[in-house]
Amino acid sequence: MPAPPYQELLDYVLIDAERLQARIAELGKQISSDYQHDNDLILIGILKGSLLFMSDLMRHITVAHTIDFMDVTSYGAGVRSSTGMVRILMDLQVPIEKRNVLIVEDIIDSGRTLEYVLRLLGARRPASLRVCTLLDKFERREVIIPVDYTGFKIPNVFVFGYGLDIDEYYRNLPFIGVVKPEAAINFING
Ligand code: PRP
Repeated sequence: MPAPPYQELLDYVLIDAERLQARIAELGKQISSDYQHDNDLILIGILKGSLLFMSDLMRHITVAHTIDFMDVTSYGAGVRSSTGMVRILMDLQVPIEKRNVLIVEDIIDSGRTLEYVLRLLGARRPASLRVCTLLDKFERREVIIPVDYTGFKIPNVFVFGYGLDIDEYYRNLPFIGVVKPEAAINFING
């Protein structure tokens, strides 16, 4: 079944494009300042949700850096709830030993994905390892995650757009929207 126009699923816009871009510019400025004396910065985007955030954020980072991507997923993915079990779908292409690593995420929910990624990357002995997330659904946290940069703390609502999907669609929307409750139930029930 083709995906309906987003308007049919949108309850309301939580963060509009202008607010998103303004906050991302601030984050980029802060990161540029914090890393000005640290050589060898690498941004690591966690696919696929971080794609848009990464691409906008790096445009505001004025210190030299490279990028790489990693794809991980929770078992039983499809709805945005973690089973607590994470597996790697695609690893980094480059070593990170002695490099300054900044993980870029679209959203932290239970924290299980980042718990796994931090443990995995920490074992590779980077010079530093920090986390930047656009959205923090803090009420849902199950494990403690050190978050260094946060775009927006958001309530426990089903969000989509700007990298976040519903059944893999709508990642291209320039804003973060909240899914209509009845639509969310349809997707959760498949
Ligand atoms: C989302 C998001 C985070 C993770 C957060 O990824 O991008 O990686 O869930 O959830 P957690 O804190 O409960 O672990 P998802 O598995 O939906 O993949 P996607 O980025 O490809 O949409």
